[in-house]
Amino acid sequence: MLKSCTDPEAATLTVVVEDRPIAAQADETVASVLLRVFGTDYRTHAVGGEPRAPYCLMGVCFECLAEVDGVPNRQGCLVPVREGMRIARQRGPARGQ
Ligand code: FES
Repeated sequence: MLKSCTDPEAATLTVVVEDRPIAAQADETVASVLLRVFGTDYRTHAVGGEPRAPYCLMGVCFECLAEVDGVPNRQGCLVPVREGMRIARQRGPARGQ
């Protein structure tokens, strides 16, 4: 049976969010972890620097971009967490752009 991220019996793991170890549940996404840790201070727009945050949480809007294991522009709402994953907010343009 699939355990919800609000299920206290769901398996837990540890991800590293901007150098901080954070407990997460096995069925959480990168976006849900970043929202839990930073709230609406999720990321900034690549051009104007305005604050942005996930909107659709189903892979349509691209407002959830994050850096995952050093790779920028990952859609956080579509990436499930895994043990030891390194996650960072995307501030301004992605590195290498
Ligand atoms: S929140 Fe819309 S694509 Fe991820």
